[in-house]
Amino acid sequence: MYIRKHILNIPFRCYSSESRINSFIKSKLMSAEDVAQKFPEQITIGASGFTPAGYPKVIPSAFAQRIKNSKNPENFSINLYTGASTGDELDGVLARTGRMKLRIPYQSHPDLRKLINEGKLNFIDMHLSHVGRYIREGIFPPIDVAIIEACDVTPDGRIYLTNSSGMSGTYLSLAKDIYIELNQAHPLEMKGLHDIYLPELHTGRPINIDYVDDRIGTPYVRVNPERIKGIVLTDKFDSSKGFKQPDDASFKIANNILDFILHEVEYGRIPKKLLPFQSGVGNVANAVLACIARDKRFNSIEMYTEVIQDSIFDLLDSDKLRFASTTALTFSAQGQIRFFKEINELKSKFILRPMEISNNPEVIRRMGLITMNTALEADIYGNVNSTHVLGSSMMNGIGGSGDFTRNAYISIFMAPSIAKGGKISAFVPMVSHVDHNEHSVQVMVSEQGLADLRAKTPKQRAKLIIDKCVHPMYKDQLNDYFQHAQRVSFAQHTPHDLKQALSWHVRLQETGSMHPDHQQSQQPTSKDTEKAAKKMDETVPNKK
Ligand code: COA
Repeated sequence: MYIRKHILNIPFRCYSSESRINSFIKSKLMSAEDVAQKFPEQITIGASGFTPAGYPKVIPSAFAQRIKNSKNPENFSINLYTGASTGDELDGVLARTGRMKLRIPYQSHPDLRKLINEGKLNFIDMHLSHVGRYIREGIFPPIDVAIIEACDVTPDGRIYLTNSSGMSGTYLSLAKDIYIELNQAHPLEMKGLHDIYLPELHTGRPINIDYVDDRIGTPYVRVNPERIKGIVLTDKFDSSKGFKQPDDASFKIANNILDFILHEVEYGRIPKKLLPFQSGVGNVANAVLACIARDKRFNSIEMYTEVIQDSIFDLLDSDKLRFASTTALTFSAQGQIRFFKEINELKSKFILRPMEISNNPEVIRRMGLITMNTALEADIYGNVNSTHVLGSSMMNGIGGSGDFTRNAYISIFMAPSIAKGGKISAFVPMVSHVDHNEHSVQVMVSEQGLADLRAKTPKQRAKLIIDKCVHPMYKDQLNDYFQHAQRVSFAQHTPHDLKQALSWHVRLQETGSMHPDHQQSQQPTSKDTEKAAKKMDETVPNKK
């Protein structure tokens, strides 16, 4: 195939620009404060960054300072578009101005989360694969300014991105003005990691990616250099904290998944050389990759995903990573140091793609992925809630989990069976919010076991989930609900008692626990309600 044969080796023939600060860059240099002064008071910003990777780190603080120093801070309003969540230097500083009015499409910053859940910030939680189209078609307000982190800029307008691709290509093509943060912490050898290709609107032309390592675009984003209004020099690492070491439950979940995959190989439903993996954000997702690295039954894997975290180093060290396609490299400080140090060898194993490609349903479906994402809670019929605590409090957002789940070859959802020391069961009669419905969720797994939900009726799914996934402390209770629902339900296809279906959530809200042993013995008085609200603050993470 033309693309594979002729473009595959691009990283190796890229660019040995010795001096980063060329005459073009010199002519555009500005301070972050000067850039911030140029911004309109009512501004829509399209920023680089996908998870805390490759986001701008100094211009947002300077803009926040300008707002703080202003006599009329109330005149300012900020719409912020990114790839996904970003670091404190962007999401945190702008949230704390109190002037952010719209945030899309994903976040995980505590200050933003607080504003969203207090109803003070409009957050649109959306499938990441939809973002580019919505913005290009003018469904969202147009972008005034793109602030993009880059590791190099050439006089003819080639912009080389850093640790993430995210939405940068689209924002660069649409923004009225472009400002670059040229981050010298990144080696110039980063050039060549990216493969920038933006799909056309309204055409049925296929996106020509058949294999995880196919290249179809350019290693830079090209813009008219006149649109670059300023360049600010920085030298800062991404502020990703890394993740907690996986706990025992995460390892058990991981092993249940690996056993299932090998079972599928045995039955010929997954080829021996396996299918590419997508692995979501979070600690459990990390544990799965760590387990593959340790497990002798797995030799070599490929990834087609949107976030690569530090757990990839376990796969590299065990020589099990054949290739990884992603839109972000979200490493801890140590991870970034290692990646930069080994960039020349590692470049042949990674591609960074725009979010429009990494999350594109067409490509995901064609490639046949094994997707693994995390649920906050799931119900007995296999509906999954990944985003809302008690149906109303936003955690992070759906991110790419819907793009991958709906189009997967095999879609797996995982969750520890209990949270908060057992006060919360991850498996409930009915989820309080649906992100992924029973039609898309094929496999459910906890540390207790794995339920293969494919080709099962709702009642068969309920039996399997209760039997395999639920924690022993909630098993009888959930089984009782299921039996009771079959007795009183309006119909028998998907039995529910609508009066009881959300009673576990109500109990959590009122008593601080889903477990009846924690239940208060009498009807709550107003004092009890205050106490319960306090308990909720201690129990539910978003209320902190
Ligand atoms: N109700 C209330 N709180 C719950 C809960 C539930 N049913 N289940 C878990 N929690 C709490 C945990 O106790 C923890 O709280 P803490 O931070 O106070 O300790 C918090 O939620 C996060 O749980 P943790 O087990 O640390 O999860 P994680 O790091 O694996 O993340 C998600 C889990 C669901 C929040 C995360 O995967 C996510 O945001 N997913 C949606 C987006 C996505 O899937 N993107 C990937 C696409 S590539």
